[in-house]
Amino acid sequence: MTKKIAPSILSADFSKLGDEIVSVEKAGADMIHIDVMDGHYVPNITMGPLIVEAVKKVTTLPLDVHLMIEKPDLFIDDFADAGADMISVHAEVCPHLNRTIQHILEKKVIPGVALNPSTPLECLYWVMSQLKFILIMSVNPGFGGQSFIESSIDKIIQIKQKIVEKQLNINIQVDGGVNRNTISDISKAGCDIFVAGSAIFGKEDYQKAIDDLKEFLC
Ligand code: DX5
Ligand code: ZN
Repeated sequence: MTKKIAPSILSADFSKLGDEIVSVEKAGADMIHIDVMDGHYVPNITMGPLIVEAVKKVTTLPLDVHLMIEKPDLFIDDFADAGADMISVHAEVCPHLNRTIQHILEKKVIPGVALNPSTPLECLYWVMSQLKFILIMSVNPGFGGQSFIESSIDKIIQIKQKIVEKQLNINIQVDGGVNRNTISDISKAGCDIFVAGSAIFGKEDYQKAIDDLKEFLC
């Protein structure tokens, strides 16, 4: 697949969220990344299914819902029914990860699993055949605008090797600190989907911001 840019609305202006979504769609975004935080799993509270439903009304782009919440199983139906096209859960809060992925698949939503910077890749090896994407967190989740954690590059390279070795069709998504300075190395390591919050919504001109990121993709 061609490499994709997923603006994270965490850094958008929520007083005009609809306009922000329309603007990034026009500027060449490939999907909309929605960061859901519960104040327990991560030290921040953000959006729920109501926001997903509202975003769905103003864009035809796929909605990529990143659940940074405890007990995600309790909310998969709500986010799927609200219009999520992709849902990622964190492996760290899913004791029955196989079951959780099945649940997402039953809702006809594309399943992904996210790993924090300190979480080893091995926890995915026995569920990889069910997965469509793997989200490598390159910051500790909770906030936009943090610096990219360099060890993520090796992690991307290693999971890419594993995907190739197992001959699976899994996209690698990277989230956190993606900007003009980091995106080239992330792309070379094997990333397919680049989440970017402050590197897009933090700029005046979204078209230029997305073009600037795409320029470094390989
Ligand atoms: C962090 C979120 C990210 C965040 C990225 O917990 O999952 O999606 O919006 O923000 P930037 O691109 O500013 O690092
Ligand atoms: Zn995210």
